[in-house]
Amino acid sequence: MREFRIAVIPGDGIGKEVVPEGIRVLEAAAAKHDLRFRWDEFPWSCEYFLQHGRMMPEDGLDQIRRHDAIFLGAVGFPGVPDHISLWGLLIPIRRGFRQYANLRPVKLMPGVPCPLAGRQVGDIDFMVVRENNEGEYSSIGGRLYEGTDQEMAVQQSVFTRQGVDRILKVAFDIAQSRPKKHLTSATKSNGIAITMPYWDERVKAMSAAYPEVKVDQFHIDILCAQFVRNPHWFDVVVGSNLFGDILSDLGPGCTGTIAIAPSANLNPEREFPSMFEPVHGSAPDIYGQGIANPIGQIWAGAMMLDHLGCPEAGASVMAAIETVLGSGLRTPDMGGQAHTTDMGKAIADAV
Ligand code: NAD
Ligand code: IPM
Ligand code: MN
Repeated sequence: MREFRIAVIPGDGIGKEVVPEGIRVLEAAAAKHDLRFRWDEFPWSCEYFLQHGRMMPEDGLDQIRRHDAIFLGAVGFPGVPDHISLWGLLIPIRRGFRQYANLRPVKLMPGVPCPLAGRQVGDIDFMVVRENNEGEYSSIGGRLYEGTDQEMAVQQSVFTRQGVDRILKVAFDIAQSRPKKHLTSATKSNGIAITMPYWDERVKAMSAAYPEVKVDQFHIDILCAQFVRNPHWFDVVVGSNLFGDILSDLGPGCTGTIAIAPSANLNPEREFPSMFEPVHGSAPDIYGQGIANPIGQIWAGAMMLDHLGCPEAGASVMAAIETVLGSGLRTPDMGGQAHTTDMGKAIADAV
């Protein structure tokens, strides 16, 4: 029997509702595949902030450094400004543990009504590879001349050679491993005339090492339009931190609901634990009603199983999600009436 120690951070809002369903399904997969999980729960959240003045303890990263993985719900809730909560918990984990590769699969699933006319299961199936440690998300900058009519806010974007090349390598490797071997780079080198031409240059340089991978690039504006008009064009889409963030909500939006979308924050070198969470946030508008869709969390659990070297268990979870969705069970975001626990229990049973 293989045993894994997982740091669980339910976080805020519906994070606290969907994480238990993720654990329920992972326990079912563990029973089937002879695995054992030890779940260590950490209450770090906006509530924790209101009590302690910080989102996590000062030695928070040290407390979870030796876990095999981190299973996180969502961070951020009204009452604490988002830039405080996110930069106090989620972003320090992504950066402190060098989780620079953020994989966000986008797939039209059976039984989920697609908002794009005429699309069938199989037509939308691609992977957004998001740079997760630098780019537009930087803390370099500040406010100047506050309170005067010259007042301004300045924030630098940072694209390092190491940072760009390592995410491009992850994206090219994934493209190389998929049947279509097609990589799309999101750029904006017409308008953002320093960092984006640099990104394009690194894409071109990296492509020399992957002669089998077909590469194209789109400016982010038209790329958004093509996600909606021609989602079947895409296989692997790589983008900077901000572009990847936007594309990884737009893609799942095109498949009917953002609530099923998972996110793997990987430290590919395995120096530190990687983190698995849904793409969505804490959804304060529906929190407390028991109607959050837990599939993004559960699918993130399947990605965690793959990462832990248990791909059969991951495949069992994915098959169970598809079976249950195919059977017509849906939460309200997908046009149904099922509750969070109905969905979690049905998927666990299907495993
Ligand atoms: P959100 O993803 O929380 O919600 C957007 C919309 O989608 C809402 O209408 C919500 O009800 C719906 N939704 C999201 N997840 C759902 C689910 N599982 N089932 C059904 N419906 C779902 O985005 P937001 O409203 O922009 O952000 C709310 C808070 O979450 C903010 O504090 C934000 O900063 C934070 N946030 C955190 C993360 C994260 O922890 N990774 C991601 C995004 C947003
Ligand atoms: C995500 C979220 C976060 C991000 C926010 C909450 C900081 O939108 O995980 O996609 O932009 O990375
Ligand atoms: Mn996002």
